Amino acid sequence: MNKALRQAVIAGNWKMNKTRPEAKALISELIPLVKDAGCGVVICVPYTNLETALDATKGTNIKVGAENCHWAESGAFTGEISAAMLAEMGVEYVVIGHSERRQYFGETDVTVNKRVRAALNAGLKVILCVGELLEQRESGITEEIVGMQTKVALGGVTKEELKNIIIAYEPVWAIGTGKTATAEQANEVNHYIRTVVEKLYDKEAADGITIQYGGSMNAKNADELTAQPDVDGGLIGGASLKAPDFAAIVAAASK
Ligand code: PGA
Repeated sequence: MNKALRQAVIAGNWKMNKTRPEAKALISELIPLVKDAGCGVVICVPYTNLETALDATKGTNIKVGAENCHWAESGAFTGEISAAMLAEMGVEYVVIGHSERRQYFGETDVTVNKRVRAALNAGLKVILCVGELLEQRESGITEEIVGMQTKVALGGVTKEELKNIIIAYEPVWAIGTGKTATAEQANEVNHYIRTVVEKLYDKEAADGITIQYGGSMNAKNADELTAQPDVDGGLIGGASLKAPDFAAIVAAASK
């Protein structure tokens, strides 16, 4: 498996943080720090910050993403946002299936798949999150869980469409806990996901897909994690809220 065949991407996941003025300030600070990045740079922000982020990043190398989208094009879904609405704004990426959506908002592998397909149909690029719970890791079923999440989420997705998908492996026990998977653990599961993609599609698809690691990645551990052969950048929560920290992770993934 050859890292040169795919792009490393560092994506920030701001979650439910930052007002518009705060978002503007953070992006202004970030722009000069990441302008020479040797990897893709994405910030996924709350819906209320999308317009601000799109304006502030115009003409820069920072791409903008949302943190979720609904599967229907429009309709009676109070509180939801469609993929078409995001695409029309100029949003390029969307995070789908984050473990917080699965844990707190009843997201299932099936609804993740519906959202993935809707996002792709609208022309968005997807950051698809998969990952096991601590009990699942301790029961020795990490591969089964992550394999099933990946397979169901990619149902009906063609090889051509797969080019618009990034997979983020995020062990749930490592998210926001300060407990990072070791570089070996991250690489092992990322590699496994790549074998799942190879079985579903082919070697070319598996070699080409960007598979990130996420879960307490920070300025200190980013070097070791992003140096792993199957880790193509990361999805960054907490550390994406501070420009110098996020920039340090981008620098690590640019090596
Ligand atoms: P964290 O979050 O970096 O704060 O652990 C990662 C994520 O949830 O994407």
